Amino acid sequence: MTTILDVQQVTKRYRRTHPPALDKLSFHVEEGAIYAFVGPNGAGKTTLIRILATLLRFDSGIVRVGGYRVDTQPRDVRRLLGYIPDEFGLYGEMLVREYLEFFAGCYHIDAARRPGIATDLLDLVGLAHRADDEVRTLSRGMRQRLGLARALVHDPALIVADEPAAGLDPRARIDLREIFRVLQEMGKTVFLSSHVLRELDDVATHVAIVEQGQLVASGPIEEIRARLRPHRRIRIGFLRGLDDAQAWLVARPDILEVEAAPLTNGGPPMLLVTLRGGEEAVASLLQDLVAQGFPVLTYLEEKDTLESLFLNLTRGIVS
Ligand SMILES: Nc1ncnc2c1ncn2[C@@H]1O[C@H](COP(=O)(O)OP(=O)(O)OP(=O)(O)O)[C@@H](O)[C@H]1O
Ligand SMILES: [Mg+2]
Repeated sequence: MTTILDVQQVTKRYRRTHPPALDKLSFHVEEGAIYAFVGPNGAGKTTLIRILATLLRFDSGIVRVGGYRVDTQPRDVRRLLGYIPDEFGLYGEMLVREYLEFFAGCYHIDAARRPGIATDLLDLVGLAHRADDEVRTLSRGMRQRLGLARALVHDPALIVADEPAAGLDPRARIDLREIFRVLQEMGKTVFLSSHVLRELDDVATHVAIVEQGQLVASGPIEEIRARLRPHRRIRIGFLRGLDDAQAWLVARPDILEVEAAPLTNGGPPMLLVTLRGGEEAVASLLQDLVAQGFPVLTYLEEKDTLESLFLNLTRGIVS
C-alpha cells in the first residue's frame, strides 16, 4: 500500500493566546481509501483541509501529498489534489458547462480537450441535463456536485472535500456516496470531513476522529469498531423458561452479563446478554442455546452505530 497523504505532528495556531487549532496531529492515508475526518464544530477539520489544499500556513510539522510537501512544493501538490471547499464562490452568470471549461483552462488543459472533460464530468455527477443552464439556477445539492466536478477537472489522485454532505437531502447524500464509490473504483483516494459520522459511516473505509485539534482515534473503520466495542449485546426472546435460560447463561464463561429486558408490547420475554468476543461467539451461543433445547423465538444483536461509539469515545467512557 502506498501512502498518498502523510500528516506528521502538525500544529497550527491562529492566535498565541488560544489553544492551537491543530495540536501535533499525525495520521496517514493509503491510496484508494475513502477516509473520513470526523469531529465536532471547531475541532480543526477545515483548518487541516485548507493546509492540505496549500491555502494555509502552519507552525510546525510536515504534510506530504504523494510525497510532495505542501509548504515547499505547493505546485506539485495542487496537481495531485482536487479541493472542494465547504463554501465556494460560484460564478453565477456562467453556464454550467462554461464553468467547468473555465476551470479546466485554469489548470492549463488544452482548449480542444476541455469540452470533452466537461461532458464526462457532468455525466459523472449527474448534471448533464443542466449543462446549458446558468450556475446560479442550480439548487444547493447541484452546486455541491458541480463543485465536485470542478475539483476533478485536472484528474487529481486525491480528492479533498470539506463537509460535502452538509445541507444535502437524504437522496442527494446517497448520490454523493455513489459518486465517491465511483471515484474509488477509478483508483482515486477520497478524504472528506464531517461533523456527523452517520453521514459517512457506510461509505468510508477509514476514519480519523479529531477533537480540539487532537486525534482521538484513527484507522480502518472495522478495526475501530472492534476496538471500541470488544463486547456484543444480544437480545434473545424465549417462548418460555426464561429463568432456566438465565441460570444456564450466567454459568457460561463467555457471558459477562444477563438481565431480563423490559417486556415489550406483544413481544416474547427477553434476556439482554452481554457476550465477550466477536461474531463467532455470537453465532456459537445461538447454536448452544438451541442444542440445549431452549425455545428461542428471536435472536437479535444490538448494533451500535459508529456514531454512538464515537460519542462514548469523546465522553471518555471508552478509552
Ligand atoms: N481565521 C481564524 N482565526 C482565528 N481562529 C480561527 C480561524 N479559523 C478557525 N479558527 C479557530 O480554529 C479552531 C478550528 O476551526 P475549524 O474551522 O478548523 O473547525 P472545524 O472542525 O472545521 O469546525 P466546523 O465543524 O464548525 O466547520 C476553532 O477554534 C476556530 O475558532
Ligand atoms: Mg469546518
